[in-house]
Amino acid sequence: MSEKYVMAIDQGTTSTRAMIFDHSGNVVSTGQEEHEQIFPRAGWVEHDAQEIWTNTRDVVGRALGRASLQNTDLAAVGITNQRETAVVWDRRTGEPVHNAIVWQDTRTQKICDELAALGGGAERYKDRVGLPLATYFSGPKVRWILDNVEGAREKAEAGHLMFGNTDAWLMWNMTGGPDGGVHVTDVTNASRTMLMNIDSLTWNEEIAAEMGIPMSMLPQIRSSSEEYGRGRARGLLGGVPLAGILGDQQAATFGQACFEVGNAKNTYGTGNFMLINTGTEPVPSKNGLLTTVAYKIGDKDAVYALEGSIAVTGSLIQWLRDNLGIISSAPEVEKLAASVDDNGGAYFVPAFSGLFAPYWRSDARGALVGLTRYVTRAHIARAALEATAFQTREVLDAMNADSGVDLTELKVDGGMVANEALMQFQADILGVPVIRPKVPETTALGAAYAAGIAVGFWSGEQDVVDNWAEDRRWEPAMDADERDRQYRLWKKAVTRTFDWVD
Ligand code: G3P
Repeated sequence: MSEKYVMAIDQGTTSTRAMIFDHSGNVVSTGQEEHEQIFPRAGWVEHDAQEIWTNTRDVVGRALGRASLQNTDLAAVGITNQRETAVVWDRRTGEPVHNAIVWQDTRTQKICDELAALGGGAERYKDRVGLPLATYFSGPKVRWILDNVEGAREKAEAGHLMFGNTDAWLMWNMTGGPDGGVHVTDVTNASRTMLMNIDSLTWNEEIAAEMGIPMSMLPQIRSSSEEYGRGRARGLLGGVPLAGILGDQQAATFGQACFEVGNAKNTYGTGNFMLINTGTEPVPSKNGLLTTVAYKIGDKDAVYALEGSIAVTGSLIQWLRDNLGIISSAPEVEKLAASVDDNGGAYFVPAFSGLFAPYWRSDARGALVGLTRYVTRAHIARAALEATAFQTREVLDAMNADSGVDLTELKVDGGMVANEALMQFQADILGVPVIRPKVPETTALGAAYAAGIAVGFWSGEQDVVDNWAEDRRWEPAMDADERDRQYRLWKKAVTRTFDWVD
């Protein structure tokens, strides 16, 4: 093969990136662009899907340009994406009928309550789709758009509308849009809609009907690693095989080489997402975790995971910057937090989108507790960082309880793992070592591997294992009594957020 590189497009919650990797899994070039976060009212979060598509083209051009490469240098392109975020568009024009409703958005609470009231409560679909009824997932968001956008339901019933997470939106546009674009998604994204049977990996028509979503809107479900189509003729990626799709958390699991049952990773992004490989059968959770698909390589069996999703971690630091103004840039938080010895008694539970795993409490809202006149903005910064570590501990406890085996170490990745103090505190609160890989961009890397494996650029999972290397490891150093004391206070703080929404 003469092509020497693979590109990944990482369409995340706050930005879109294109990254080019060489055969050893090293980053050769990057382009990145943030998009607007739209908050029309409390609890609502939207993105402009057209802006995301425009940014995607820009960052692809930038990544190619910076490395003086062109389409003919690329063996394949993979897409990884923020999951659950729902885009609905008209197949005739390519125009979205509404802003994308983001995974953090809570507007579908009433729809979820109504569905739960049909019988079975929040567990109504859990046996079939692996997920509790919660505002997080895509299906109820599509229902909201069809109920609230004038003319949308009629158009959907006439077969004119398409739905997808941002992977499907980009794939359709990249392969030609209204001129022959392919409408596909992969099993990992489909497993986040509440509409896919978790065992057969097919759409569940009964649930779609109950949610009022016509089947004609749904993309075809494919594996995570196969050629779906080629870049549209006049585009920058003209003719390049588009050959990998993985939801971002699943892509990080793949990029971290979590291929054995019991391997786990935790990604620190806008939120935190811990996934543990559970093998080729879906495992139901008794402790507030999600059953999800980890990946499916071509015709091979799908591999499943249990996932602990935390809605707000990195975005709390952005909130300190943008809404409170107590820091002027996100990295500043580390210095500010380090200027005090402890949290001064303050605990910050950022239940901005309710609480996800392991609680699934849509009625929760954020709380900053333990305040006295002693507390300064430095203590608040510290409490905000510590919230990430405490929430991760709750998810790890749930994983240990579900699997019956205690995790002995945790692989980490994502933006916040550059924060040394946080990683040390994380190891202290978990009581197990925390390990960072040499290439921390495992989300993009995972999508690149999925695409590269499909076209034979990499031979399979063993290449991923061979390329993975440890960069740093933090050992727990905190006294066990102190760890237990702090965690007990955290748990108490969490209870203060419950039952807040009328
Ligand atoms: O489920 C939401 C998740 O996929 C978003 O991840 O990294 O874009 O915050 P991130």
